[in-house]
Amino acid sequence: MLLKSDWLSAFSTQLTLAILCSATSVYAAESDSHLRVLAASCAACHGSHGNSVGGTPVLAGLDAAHFRLQMKSFRSGERTSTVMHRHAKGLTENEIEALAAYFSAQPRMVAVSPRALKDLQ
Ligand code: HEC
Repeated sequence: MLLKSDWLSAFSTQLTLAILCSATSVYAAESDSHLRVLAASCAACHGSHGNSVGGTPVLAGLDAAHFRLQMKSFRSGERTSTVMHRHAKGLTENEIEALAAYFSAQPRMVAVSPRALKDLQ
């Protein structure tokens, strides 16, 4: 027979698990929006989702290990840069890791001018 106290303790364990689960998903949503804000700050120079249209390096589809290495080299000053040392120094290890995963997963877009397209036809 199930004692009242057993039932209560089983119930409170379930309740604790439910609270823990919802806390985890709230945290995931927050960190996801934090990542979006960070990635948006790179867009001014590196383009939307890392697809730069100017002379700035394209980040979309960049190998995550290469990305990490560049950011660390900018931070240490091992790689000289015009602006990136400032951006890299403002990021934590976790933020660099999250950005490396984000940009490596973005599809690389190739823009073809109408004139070049005509030449191809
Ligand atoms: C003000 C413009 C600007 C902003 C904003 C900017 N970058 Fe850059 N980024 C550059 C330039 C220019 C380079 C080439 C190195 C240099 O001269 O600093 C570069 C290079 C890089 C590289 C090296 C790419 C390669 O393949 O060698 C990475 C990685 C990078 N940026 C990541 C980022 C990330 C992540 C952010 C946002 C947190 C960011 N950048 C924001 C201008 C910018």
